[in-house]
Amino acid sequence: MAAQPANLPFAYLNGLYLPLDEARISPLDRGFLFGDGVYEVIPCYAGTLFRLEPHLARMQRSLDAIGIAAPHTLAEWTDVLNGLVAHNGGGHQSLYLQITRGAPNLRDHRFPAECPPTIFAYCTTLEDPDTRSLDDETGLRCITCDDIRWSRCDIKAVTLLANVLLREQARAAGCDEAILIRSGWVTEGSTSNVFVVSEGEILTPCAGPDVLGGITRDLVIELAGRHGLSLLESFVDPRLLQSADEVWISSSTRGVRPVVALDGKPVGDGRPGPLWRKMAECYAEFRRALMA
Ligand SMILES: Cc1ncc(COP(=O)(O)O)c(C=O)c1O
Repeated sequence: MAAQPANLPFAYLNGLYLPLDEARISPLDRGFLFGDGVYEVIPCYAGTLFRLEPHLARMQRSLDAIGIAAPHTLAEWTDVLNGLVAHNGGGHQSLYLQITRGAPNLRDHRFPAECPPTIFAYCTTLEDPDTRSLDDETGLRCITCDDIRWSRCDIKAVTLLANVLLREQARAAGCDEAILIRSGWVTEGSTSNVFVVSEGEILTPCAGPDVLGGITRDLVIELAGRHGLSLLESFVDPRLLQSADEVWISSSTRGVRPVVALDGKPVGDGRPGPLWRKMAECYAEFRRALMA
């Protein structure tokens, strides 16, 4: 393996591992021209990709949904991605994987007749999730926004302009995330799923065309079941966000995080709540057991 400066990660591009700054794609790549591709973000703890199978299964569903033929089998993907993690020295990483409809020699909206997909992956360092105690969690501040995205949010598409604008709107308001409302219902965050705790019950919007089936969301649902917490997938009225005891968001690289302020007002008593704490403990325990 070639020597690599600490701050320059290895990437994977179309069959080759190479330093990220040597990875080149064509300006005619359909990911660049049209956002015509799909992606996954997979956390890796102590050198092990976390929930790899559900991530690969979701990626396959995204590929199927946009008509890109599977470039690899499950076993091949596993080898490719574990190889990238190893090239980057194991440890805690976030792996980004993107597949586009390739780079034909003409810009044309129609699918190219024969064109191999572009497969790109690279890793960034993740903080050790066990360095920070749950006691140190101060919580996130969020705003609510109209969900201006398209109607196939179940596809993890690289076409993320609406998400980018919404996330930036949150940042400009001094907040961490935008929680989205569509047709009078809560959908999800611009980069996360949403949970609401009211009268001891955890509610989360149903996955579907308006809500990405988050891998972390699925794990939270599974853990709630295992630990006897009441969790319901249902429509969530935005008014419930205002009166909720707790609001959480979830995503692969952030896990489950409590929201302590929404649209400038405190959520519950303005501190991370007891059910969030319970879920965060269950999540950490599950992760540690897998990594042991
Ligand atoms: C719009 C959106 N919803 C939900 C999620 C959470 O999904 P996961 O838990 O698979 O990371 C993400 C993560 O990127 C996202 O972008």
